[in-house]
Parts: sequence; structure tokens; C-alpha cells
Amino acid sequence: MKIGSEAHKELFCSDFIGSYKKYEPEQLPWPDLDKTDIERLRSIPFWEEALNTEQRAGSKVIAYAKIITDPLLREAIALQGIEEERHARLFQFMIQHYGIEISESSPAELPENIEQAFIDFGYGECLDAFLGFGLFKIARQSGFLPESMFRIFDLLLHEELRHIVFFVNWVAYMQASRGRGARIFRAAHSLLYYGRAAQRLLDTVSHSADSKGKDFSATEASVFLDGFSLEMLLTECLQENARRMSCFDRRLLQPRLLPILAQITLSGLKLLPKRQPSENRLPKAETL
Ligand SMILES: [Fe+2]
Ligand SMILES: [Fe+2]
Repeated sequence: MKIGSEAHKELFCSDFIGSYKKYEPEQLPWPDLDKTDIERLRSIPFWEEALNTEQRAGSKVIAYAKIITDPLLREAIALQGIEEERHARLFQFMIQHYGIEISESSPAELPENIEQAFIDFGYGECLDAFLGFGLFKIARQSGFLPESMFRIFDLLLHEELRHIVFFVNWVAYMQASRGRGARIFRAAHSLLYYGRAAQRLLDTVSHSADSKGKDFSATEASVFLDGFSLEMLLTECLQENARRMSCFDRRLLQPRLLPILAQITLSGLKLLPKRQPSENRLPKAETL
């Protein structure tokens, strides 16, 4: 299939729209948690950030959808906006339901260049999702929280997976339709935007570690951070990415650059001499 063709657009839009799942966050099977699990859930330092990110995402994506003239692209991106808003409602409900303390924050203003913001947001989602797949698997395997909670988060993660596949196809389609569809141009564009997304992620992580991350790493997170290493994380990210991506139509583009970079890093790490287990571990505060 020719990337940038009408057939390509129809495929990535219909795949996205057709895989929409109807549910309300309040009606999901939220489990009753015992005291230990509630404390663990409350100790996770990023709920406030997750809620704010989803709220910002919802308003940004919905605002962008309103200025799109192509009806099919508009329908698909408006649907993504609805899903991002639903993610925010999911976190909002969970925070209230389990008595998680967060501070009030005022709604962020919409950026002036809304298409640029949508592109930045899309690359950020690709990076967050790739890392999230691996971290989620590690946390799930450790039994950090009951499986019923992971099933709910899995729903959200699957929607993020659909968003990033839609996004990489949309970017390629837009570039091709604007005469910039050559592979080399697309790769340079991705590198530039992933660099910006990585910088934003590092800023967020260091802010989180400064404020709440140290308490978290010193206590509850040891359940799954013991033995944690960059090699383990990248291995899980790559495996999970491949597993999750296997459900899509093979004619669709998938995010390629991050798995390639992760594979190169992993190969480099494997060449390094193995350290003693205690040295091999990342300092806990920095892993967050
Ligand atoms: Fe989201
Ligand atoms: Fe998303």
C-alpha cells in the first residue's frame, strides 16, 4: 500500500475508529483493596502527573480535531480526544475512589500552534508507551498490585497503543501529502521529535523524583525495583512492544525508531563486562 494514499488514510482511520471500545471508567470492576495494596497504590508518585497529562491531552487533541477539514481524519482524531478525556476521568475516579492525595492544578492553556502541539504530543506518546509497556510488564509480574488493577490499566495501555499506531500513520500520511514523504526525511523528523520528547520525559521524571520519588523508591517500590536494570527494562520493552504490535494490520506502519535504538543499546549493554549484582542495580531514586 502506498503511504500517503487515500487507501492508506482509510485503512489507518477505519482501523482506529473500528477498534474503539465503549466503557465508562466509573463502571469498571475496581477491586476492593486491602490496607497494604491501598498504601502501595497511594505511594506511587505519578498519579497527579498522569491525571494532568491526560487532561491536557484531551483538550489539546479535541482542539486540534476541530480545525481539521478532512472528515475522516477529523472523526478519528476527535475520537482520540474522547479517549484521552476518558483516561483523565479514569485517573480522576481512581484517585477519589482510593483516597489518593494530589494537589489541585489549574488547567493548562492551549498552545498557539495546535498542529505542532499534536505532533509533539504524538511523539511523546510513542516514547511513553514504549517504556510503559516494559515497566507495566515488570510491575505486573511482581504482583505489586492485584491483577484486577492491572487489567484496568491494561485497557488504558491498549488505547495508547492504538493512539501511537494511528499517530505514526497519520504523520507519514501528512508528510507524504505535503511532499515530504521520503524515508530519510521521515527518519530525521522522528529523531528530532523523539529528542524533544525524551527531554520532556527527563524533566518530568527528575521533577517527580525530587518531590515524591525518593519516598516511593525507599519503601513500596522495592517490591519490583530489586534487581531492576536497564538491560531488563529494555528487554521487556522490546518483547512487549512486539507482542502488543502483533495485533495490527501488517499494512499499517508501526513505530520503528525506538525499538531499533533500544535494540542497539541493549546489544551494547550485553557487551559490557557484567558487574556484581549489587553494583548492577540502578540507584532506586534514579530509576523512577
Ligand atoms: Fe491517554
Ligand atoms: Fe493517548
